[in-house]
Amino acid sequence: MYGIIVHGGAGGTSPLAEEGCRRAAEIGMDILRRGGSSLDAVIAAVRFLEDSGDFNAGTGSVLRADGKTIEMDAVVANSSGMYGAVAAVRDIKNPVLLALALSATTTRFLVGDGARAFARQMGLEDHPGPTPRALERAAQLRALLMGAYRGGTLSTVAPGWDPVELQQYGIIPEGDGALFYARDCDTVGAIGLDRQGVFAIAGSTGGSGLMRLGRVGDVTADGAGHRLGSFGGVLATGVGEAIMARRGAEQVARLIEEMGFAPQDACAHVALKVFPPETDVGFIAMNRNGVGHNANCPMSFHYMTDE
Ligand code: GLY
Repeated sequence: MYGIIVHGGAGGTSPLAEEGCRRAAEIGMDILRRGGSSLDAVIAAVRFLEDSGDFNAGTGSVLRADGKTIEMDAVVANSSGMYGAVAAVRDIKNPVLLALALSATTTRFLVGDGARAFARQMGLEDHPGPTPRALERAAQLRALLMGAYRGGTLSTVAPGWDPVELQQYGIIPEGDGALFYARDCDTVGAIGLDRQGVFAIAGSTGGSGLMRLGRVGDVTADGAGHRLGSFGGVLATGVGEAIMARRGAEQVARLIEEMGFAPQDACAHVALKVFPPETDVGFIAMNRNGVGHNANCPMSFHYMTDE
């Protein structure tokens, strides 16, 4: 078998997101059918999703707590040992291409200003600025938080959000109050297996809406947002802090590699039985026999395989 599976983030879906995932999978599958590498396939698929502006990655990335900054994370890897990751990088259009460029150097992981400087050095394209959708999402989330705060009846602070920080940015007023679970986080990613038997993964995200500057989610954390090996690959999407706390991708990978679960059953078990239902999370996975996908919330995805 060879093929590709793509996701467009957990926590919501739409005909636009489904269509974007379908198109991204087709782009990757076309490369695989022509004998191309799984790395080229997943990069092309994720770059398409980054460029579409319809997902929280690349062009469509959400805004941080200051209401104007975009910071993005991305990872690329293959089962032959290639690896590159960038985190909290600003101003560039395609973090996935930056992670790829990095993999050809002696450095494996770059963050912040250093990552941006490397992107300039590589001549990568600048980010075009927040999309109208990203600005609207930030305004909606801000209104939602303010409304919940004023309601004063909700008691759970969502992981990764700090009331003091939200007050600092004027998102909620100072004083007593409580927040609730409402997150604005999704991610894009692709896993591929080529005709040469090599697996590859690529993941990219704008992080989580209205999070503090410098916050990094699960995507670049091995064992949390991704796991890759000779068994296959796993990618997570959803609330980064919860995925890191429970090492989501590693749990799915262990079920496949050590317990003999099919990818579909492994994704379902971890998404539905390990994570609490109020924490949005989803997984895609692939081994040499097939693909899996499951989430405890709506998640856009698409896969294509062939013998
Ligand atoms: N899952 C994306 C993030 O939390 O950053």
